Parts: sequence; C-alpha cells; structure tokens
Amino acid sequence: MGSSLSGCCGLNNTEKGANMVAGARTSWRIFTYKELEAATNGFSEENKLGEGGFGCVYWGKTNDGLQIAVKKLKAMNSKAEMEFAVEVEVLGRVRHKNLLGLRGYCVGTDQRLIVYDYMPNLSLLSHLHGQFAAQVHLDWRRRMKIVIGSAEGLLYLHHEVTPHIIHRDIKASNILLDSDFEPLVADFGFAKLIPEGVSHMTTRVKGTLGYLAPEYAMWGKVSESCDVYSFGILLLEILTGRKPIEKLPGGVKRTITEWAEPLIIQGKFKDLADPKLGGNFNENQLTQAINVAALCVQNDPDKRPNMKEVVSMLKGYDPRGKVIQNRIESAKYNDELLALDQTSDDDDDNGGDSCDMEKNGYSVFGSMEVQKK
Ligand SMILES: Nc1ncnc2c1ncn2[C@@H]1O[C@H](COP(=O)(O)OP(=O)(O)OP(=O)(O)O)[C@@H](O)[C@H]1O
Ligand SMILES: [Mg+2]
Repeated sequence: MGSSLSGCCGLNNTEKGANMVAGARTSWRIFTYKELEAATNGFSEENKLGEGGFGCVYWGKTNDGLQIAVKKLKAMNSKAEMEFAVEVEVLGRVRHKNLLGLRGYCVGTDQRLIVYDYMPNLSLLSHLHGQFAAQVHLDWRRRMKIVIGSAEGLLYLHHEVTPHIIHRDIKASNILLDSDFEPLVADFGFAKLIPEGVSHMTTRVKGTLGYLAPEYAMWGKVSESCDVYSFGILLLEILTGRKPIEKLPGGVKRTITEWAEPLIIQGKFKDLADPKLGGNFNENQLTQAINVAALCVQNDPDKRPNMKEVVSMLKGYDPRGKVIQNRIESAKYNDELLALDQTSDDDDDNGGDSCDMEKNGYSVFGSMEVQKK
C-alpha cells in the first residue's frame, strides 16, 4: 500500500465529504467508536473478515442498514496520527468506480478505524485460491471484467487523480468484488501509516513477495512502474489460476513467471489458461492479455508500458505496434527470501503463521537476484 501523496493540511474540522461519481453521489463521514463497536458486534471474532498488515477487518451493519467493512488500525503515534488525517482527507476525494473509496473513519483516543463499503464477493484471492475457489464463480467474462476494471482503477490513480498515487501493494487480496463481480482496488494510500516498530515488510513478504518489482524489492525504488509489474503478476494469476509463488513437491518454490515463460516462448497460450475454465475462453483475448502481462513483468522498469497503454492493449488496441514480448526474464528471489514467503502455503484469505523477518535477520531489499538472460 502506499501513495505519493503530499501536503500539510489537517482535517479542517470537516466531518463530511461528497463527490460525484458517474452521476451517483457518494459520501463519507466521521463515525463514532461506539457506533462501529455496535455495528461489528463489539469487533467479535465472528465478524472478522481477515487480517492484514495494518490490523483486522470486521464486517458490520450500521443503524441505517449499510453493510460496512471496518479496518481497525494497530496503535499509532502522533506523527502517524497527522499522516492519518492527511491521507484520509485526500483519499476522501478519490472516487472511481473501480476504487474502494472511504465510507468514513473514526478517531478515538488511541484508536484509528477506517470504514469501507462491504464487498459481498470478498476478495479476488478468495475466489482464485481461497474459500470460494471450488465454486468457480470466475468465468472468462468475469475475469476479463476484473482485469480491465482493476487496470482502469490503477490508471486513474497513476494518471488522473492529483497528486498521483502509487499503490505499492497490488495483489489479489486487495482487489475486492462487489455483488456484480465488478472489481474495486482497495488499500491505496495508507503505507505511510505504519507505526514505528511495526514491520509491515514482514506481512508484505508473507503475502506479497511474488508481486514485488525487482527494483522495489532490491533497492526500494518506487515508481508507477512497480504497480505495473505487480499488475502483470496479478494478470498472469487471473488468467492461469496459479499463485504468484508456488510450492512444488519437495519444497522448492517457483514463481509464476518461471512457470509461464517456457509456454509463452513456445506460443502455447492455451496451455496457460486456468484449467478451471474448462476450455471456455476467448483465445484472442487470452493471447493479448498474456502479451500484456509479459510486457508488464519485464525487469527493466523503463520497458514496461504505463497503465494507459495497458488498458488500451487489454481492450484490444496495440499502441506499441508489433512489440510482442515473449521473454520474461523472470525475477528470481533468492532462497532465503523465498523461505520467508508463506503465500504458497496458505489456502485462504486469512494469511498463515506470521514470520518475523527482522528476527530472521533478513530484509526484503537486497535479497533478490535478477536472472539475466
Ligand atoms: N471492504 C471489504 N469488503 C469485504 N472484505 C474486505 C474488505 N476490506 C478488506 N476485506 C478483506 O479483509 C481481509 C483483510 O484485509 P486487509 O486489507 O487488512 O489485508 P490484506 O489485503 O490481506 O493485506 P494488506 O494489509 O497488505 O492490504 C482480506 O481478506 C480482505 O479481502
Ligand atoms: Mg488489503
């Protein structure tokens, strides 16, 4: 998660905000702690939707019948408090049909809570590899809708909103699905709110390693193109149904790009499609989408397309003429770092055992080798 937001404004005592999206008026407001406590049945275990790097998320229902998801942030210090105010202020203005905007927030004495609309189809992760995986709700049409909608949400963050926002944590658990399977990109803008002493990197690597762009993982270099890389991995995941990092029999871990590259080189696009689709997919769209993914996951950030190009290629245009990429140059995470990744061991949305990178003496930066072809 993260943003390139800047500014020094507070909340200006504003208690409500409103914006127009496609003619519909959406708004946010301040919630009281009591109200959220009541809505979530006292933040009970039964109401818990999951847990991420910033705290737990609970399902709830307000007095006026609105279903909400409440993210209860871990304890914050005063610096983080100011940043929270700034981020909330800015994020309250961000509205797009494919972005999960704020429904509100709550600032208690030592509590910070963010309120979102509840997404009844939960996350893309739960459909690809989690509790809904066996039910196969994701047919080809829905997958394409999720791919294009997520790309459009990112395009808006990178190119349309001011100041521009870099997400930094594009992954299947951060793509939420509404009742119509329209995707909403979640969790942009809060990376700066990591309380001191809390290693978000631990959680990031646990659930995110396979999505990290090499230049970000090695040197912490952040740009829009890191999101493009992560989007490329997400795209491969949606098309193939495979996890970004898989554990093979014998314990060896393999990245999705390492698996896909030989098939792409041989032009065996149909073999890349998720077997759960039962062969029901549009071959031209599949080929085009694989090519887009291959462009996005190139090691050199300058060679990757931007999100405007990604969206137009996904819609069937090819602004890069005949540039078709069939060599992926898979980023190769080294063994120590791969050992810390637990995504491949988890089968649901709830993460798994936590693993403390700091205790293990590793940092994500510098722990990755790039395989040169
Ligand atoms: N608005 C929502 N509606 C339904 N489910 C949600 C909503 N927001 C979050 N969730 C689910 O709650 C769980 C925890 O989300 P959270 O964002 O805290 O963690 P994460 O996405 O796994 O990691 P990260 O902290 O990096 O975002 C995830 O399974 C997520 O899909
Ligand atoms: Mg999330």
